[in-house]
Amino acid sequence: MANTLKNDLLIRACRQQPVERTPVWIMRQAGRYLPEYQAVRAKSDFMTMCRTPELAAEVTLQPVDIIGVDAAIIFSDILVIPEAMGMGLSFHEGRGPAFESPIRSRSDFARLREINAEQDLSYMLDALKLVRRELNGRVPLIGFAGAPWTLASYMVEGQGSRNFIEIKRMMYSEPALLHELLDRLSDAVIDFLTAQIAAGAQVVQVFDSWAGILPPQYFQVFSLPYLRKVVDGIKGLGVPIIVFAREAGHSFDQLSEIGADVLSVSWTEDLAEARTAVGDKVALQGNLDPCALFSTPEVIEREVKDVLRKAGSGGGHVFNLGHGILPKTPVDNVKALIEFVAKHSG
Ligand code: CP3
Repeated sequence: MANTLKNDLLIRACRQQPVERTPVWIMRQAGRYLPEYQAVRAKSDFMTMCRTPELAAEVTLQPVDIIGVDAAIIFSDILVIPEAMGMGLSFHEGRGPAFESPIRSRSDFARLREINAEQDLSYMLDALKLVRRELNGRVPLIGFAGAPWTLASYMVEGQGSRNFIEIKRMMYSEPALLHELLDRLSDAVIDFLTAQIAAGAQVVQVFDSWAGILPPQYFQVFSLPYLRKVVDGIKGLGVPIIVFAREAGHSFDQLSEIGADVLSVSWTEDLAEARTAVGDKVALQGNLDPCALFSTPEVIEREVKDVLRKAGSGGGHVFNLGHGILPKTPVDNVKALIEFVAKHSG
């Protein structure tokens, strides 16, 4: 596994070391905006793709080959942990993921299986090993997991949600049960990320996509401590850690002190204000509005320059979107984005 990276811009930017230009990758870069992805997807369902290392590897490499991003992120999903715990995950076209039996009570919680990543999630570890081999050091490989709070939200709601009534009902009326669930998930995430790093992940990102649904005072209680626990659990393994606590800008200051190397900034937040809040304690990632990619190259160039200006010239910036790329995004605009980042940061 000791092959040296030909392009290590991402690693250096995560560590706030000097770079010739700003590295760029795109959250959800392996996915439905690419016709090449759709061609693979047309033949298998989503979980089959996740479980088949050759297919997962193929679509992981597509954005590296086609778009020219500075990192690969392994094709998988944050919901493979609850799936392995026995929650019966299905993906419905147009409706997103859903669990057969959501966690609403202590007896539901008691039914969750103890998991061991090496055994129960070996398909993702095999995919990582395969991608590392096929990348042959071209760019770093990113592993990832959902944050405890976001995983718990999906597990308690049973699916995506608008108002998150069920997880909040548990938070307000059964906080002890929720803390037990979050603690259990933190251990699973640490075990999974540790195994991913052993399998070849060179950077890891923790997605707390639903951090922003929490009132700030409860973010401090139900999300932040578990992000800290996860980071603590993998900190010694020598790979940069990116934390994406979406729309939790109210807590940038505390987030910058949990030991992560990089904070990923949502498009709803201002990158320059984020920098002011965190000083030079961490690198920042982000934060172009994914919808900007539905405009013209001229507009995209202007917006790229604006993000780079707000990121400042002090280094420690990873260019990305402020959330995942959307289906139907014009591929030529994504390629233009990558060129503009190189042109204006070099
Ligand atoms: O970034 C990448 O390209 C790597 C792969 C990746 C996927 N999901 C593939 C995927 C990653 C990092 C994720 C993370 C993920 N999954 C998050 C956190 C990031 C975020 O966007 O906030 C969340 C909340 C999920 C849960 C999830 N998985 C949803 C809500 C959906 C349906 C909506 C959608 O985006 O399509 C999925 C399915 C999913 N995960 C797809 C892909 C490519 C689409 C599957 C298909 O082809 O139909």
